[in-house]
Amino acid sequence: MKAELLYEGKAKRVYQAEGKSGQLVLSYKNDATAFNGVKKDSFDGKGRLNNEISSLIFTALHEKGIETHFIERLNETEQMVVQTEIIPLEVVVRNVASGSITKRLGIEEKTHFDKPLIEFFYKNDELGDPLINDEHALYLTSATPAEIDEIKEKALEINKQLMDLFQSINITLVDFKLEFGRKACGTIVLSDEISPDTCRLWDAATGEKLDKDVFRQGTGDLIEVYKEILKRLEAKA
Ligand code: TMP
Ligand code: ASP
Repeated sequence: MKAELLYEGKAKRVYQAEGKSGQLVLSYKNDATAFNGVKKDSFDGKGRLNNEISSLIFTALHEKGIETHFIERLNETEQMVVQTEIIPLEVVVRNVASGSITKRLGIEEKTHFDKPLIEFFYKNDELGDPLINDEHALYLTSATPAEIDEIKEKALEINKQLMDLFQSINITLVDFKLEFGRKACGTIVLSDEISPDTCRLWDAATGEKLDKDVFRQGTGDLIEVYKEILKRLEAKA
């Protein structure tokens, strides 16, 4: 199924798909990192959980008419996707204040934003993924002004769909990070993954954190909370 290893990231390996030009195999690893790789660990089963969770979420987005790079889940830890050129932006959407924005801007954790906030971070490990503005994004990436607007519109539409999806399984979608990629034809589509690694997900009733913050903050069992997310998504699918 897979041929040459093209890239190894912190949580996934990316392979050229064997005999299928323009397609990639994403292989999810068991590794978890935080604080730009300063904190590291490995958890048996994490790769499978994120592959399955991300596959279910991308499928749900397809059903709502959102185009993504996802083609199909191949097995426990791998999925087939359309090859895109990743635009080096981490597009963060926030519905509730948590994480870096609380420290950066002094906003109290759990503050609800009336209108979702979008932030761009420059995807660059050496620089520690700094927060940037639209003008920096235009300077640092191939995206045009119209494409930057399109990315923001898509991020807000994805937020609406994900909020509905998570609400239906009694989870508050606090915030999340998206990446977009350019297909060979030039179209920009949602790429990368959507999983508890890349979202903050709080139980709507108890506020329990069901995402990578349990690892970042050392407050819980990563595998148990990822299993809970998968269980609720599977019950809904
Ligand atoms: P932040 O509050 O640390 O800026 O994170 C915002 C959201 O983005 C949160 O859901 C976690 C996610 N995220 C990633 O997916 N990758 C990253 O490297 C970082 C820093 C955050
Ligand atoms: N993904 C980032 C890292 O490894 C940070 C994070 O998710 O908190 O280091």
